[in-house]
Amino acid sequence: MTLPQKHSAKGTTIFTVMSALATQHNAINLSQGFPDFPIDERLGLFLHEATKEGFNQYAPMPGLPILREAISNNFKQRYGLDINADTEITVTPGATYAIYTAFTSILQAGDEAIVLEPAYDSYIPNIEMNGAKAVPVALSAPAFNVDWNKVKAAITPKTKAIILNTPHNPTGAVWSREDWNTLADLVRGTEMYILSDEVYEQLIFDGKEHYSVLQHEELRQRSFALYSFGKVFHNTGWKMGYCIAPPALTQAFRRIHQFLAFSVNTPAQYALAKYLAAPQSELIWKMMQQKRDYFLELMRDTPFTIHTPSGGSYFQVAGYEHISDMPDMEFAKWLTVEYGVATIPVSPFYSNKKDDKLIRFCFAKKEETLREAVSRLCSVSTAFRGQTR
Ligand SMILES: Cc1ncc(COP(=O)(O)O)c(C=O)c1O
Repeated sequence: MTLPQKHSAKGTTIFTVMSALATQHNAINLSQGFPDFPIDERLGLFLHEATKEGFNQYAPMPGLPILREAISNNFKQRYGLDINADTEITVTPGATYAIYTAFTSILQAGDEAIVLEPAYDSYIPNIEMNGAKAVPVALSAPAFNVDWNKVKAAITPKTKAIILNTPHNPTGAVWSREDWNTLADLVRGTEMYILSDEVYEQLIFDGKEHYSVLQHEELRQRSFALYSFGKVFHNTGWKMGYCIAPPALTQAFRRIHQFLAFSVNTPAQYALAKYLAAPQSELIWKMMQQKRDYFLELMRDTPFTIHTPSGGSYFQVAGYEHISDMPDMEFAKWLTVEYGVATIPVSPFYSNKKDDKLIRFCFAKKEETLREAVSRLCSVSTAFRGQTR
């Protein structure tokens, strides 16, 4: 018997591979994008309260009304946007699920979807699982801006969607308002939908602002905006997220969602609703910016090259041209085994495995973790400086 190949990705994801290697070699794990510090105690207490208060049975299919209301109020406060909690918000088990569901609501066999690379690794398999074709367009290194001429050239009559991510994993690049205007010019008059992966929206640095697709009135009409509570509240293991889309797209999204997950963890929804309604602070981005700054400061003493400081997200990419000319996969494995620091090579974020000789560090970690990791990276310099490799 043969099993169907639903997508072109091979083996397990690079995140699983590197995290497993980190465990095997007792390495400090700066690879996968998850924090190693505790969540806000209030959030944990709300979860406990939810189970005590009896929020233990299936939630309504679109999500608990109190959570959808809390999301709507939060977007009003932060962006001044009016988002209808009943017709435009759907709670999901994480953003990865929301991305798949959004693609499945709009794609049919033979359609094309543009993916800006390097890209989060679920995008292309999700497009292919719908019988559609992924059309990769490379961002321009080292700043990883969008090359709009390339995007324009990739659009055909079959193009049904484009997926983008800002702030960007793995590079930390951030879209400007101008980017959105250019995208609007390109998609006007086409049948294209937009999937805007904004999971790191609140993790943005140096006084930059996150521009959401929802703030672009014209684009909003054809867009699914996708969010993850895990990334902003540092509880990635809860796997909670949501999709915001105009009513017609939300209906299409829910037509799929009701037969995939149907509904989402009720106590977690209750806890997140209470937490969103509680006084929020600037801590989310401030804390992450401090971590990025601390990490960059420490990295000055290593032989790694920081081409562009991360503008947002959990991540910083770095070059290793002063250390080695190994391919990035090999280099990341070598660093894990020999120096006990696990990172993620950037080439697996490209469908053609383009190797810019960059690795990605996750700095969403305790200061002591970052300090210990970078002290090991400093010894890389001692070991190899002056040697030819
Ligand atoms: C760009 C991007 N989108 C989506 C996700 C997934 O979010 P979730 O854990 O809520 O599924 C991640 C997680 O690493 C990500 O980096």
